[in-house]
Amino acid sequence: MLRSLLLSAALLSLLAVPALANEENEHLKTQAWPHQGAFGTYDRASLQRGFQVYKQVCATCHSLKLLSYRDLSDLGFNEAEVKALAASATVHDGPNDNGDMFDRPGRPSDFFVKPFPNDQAARAANGGALPPDLSLIVKARKGHEDYIYSILTGFGQTPPADEKIAAGMNYNPYFPGHQIAMPRPLNDDSVTYADGTKATTDQEARDVVQFLAWAAEPKLEARNQMGFKVVLFLVVFAAVLYGVKRKVWSKLH
Ligand code: HEC
Repeated sequence: MLRSLLLSAALLSLLAVPALANEENEHLKTQAWPHQGAFGTYDRASLQRGFQVYKQVCATCHSLKLLSYRDLSDLGFNEAEVKALAASATVHDGPNDNGDMFDRPGRPSDFFVKPFPNDQAARAANGGALPPDLSLIVKARKGHEDYIYSILTGFGQTPPADEKIAAGMNYNPYFPGHQIAMPRPLNDDSVTYADGTKATTDQEARDVVQFLAWAAEPKLEARNQMGFKVVLFLVVFAAVLYGVKRKVWSKLH
């Protein structure tokens, strides 16, 4: 009984595989990211530009709640710049001694201010869809950097004739189901870069993806360095042990 059940379950799952494959998404646009690999480091200039894209475009809808303003010093901003960036945000704080809530300028120790007070308000402003928090999005999605990059640069294509796009949705071949509630966020010159880099859609997407990768793993460089030191230590240690072994056994040969 159990065996035949298991067998039929196995057969069913075989049938299900081609069905899933039909719904497969467009192949992701694979990119070379400077922070990938055992010796990867973040491109600080790109991180700063990516932060500008997040701040001026994505932050209207998406929170980044695990970052605090002082974390930005890691991108190469000095103390005064971090203070100014924090102060440009309005933090809802309180209650004060009278029991009232109040607004004040942000401090470096504050976490990034969210665009909406709660999920319901975020949904109400986005046709019922919730813009996810972006703090860990690069880690959370299959395909990681390449997936986010593909989504951001995947708008504006004409859907195939057999795919009907519902009202308020947008065609994006990289998103599961190919319909996304997010309107195309990036266009050429959506921002004007302070460092003079030309703000093409592609450049903006590359920069904001690198910024979000850093947000999801700010300690990547320290981890890579530690890994290198550990491997170096193990190699040297193995060589020493081998020398000792040869010396000890030499008397017996
Ligand atoms: C006008 C509001 C709005 C803006 C601006 C916006 N988004 Fe979105 N975003 C959304 C909504 C709504 C969703 C949820 C889509 C859905 O579930 O169909 C979403 C979803 C996403 C997703 C998730 C895809 C997934 O696999 O779940 C990513 C990644 C994303 N946005 C990144 C960005 C980035 C990066 C920017 C800035 C360049 C940005 N968004 C700008 C509204 C916005």
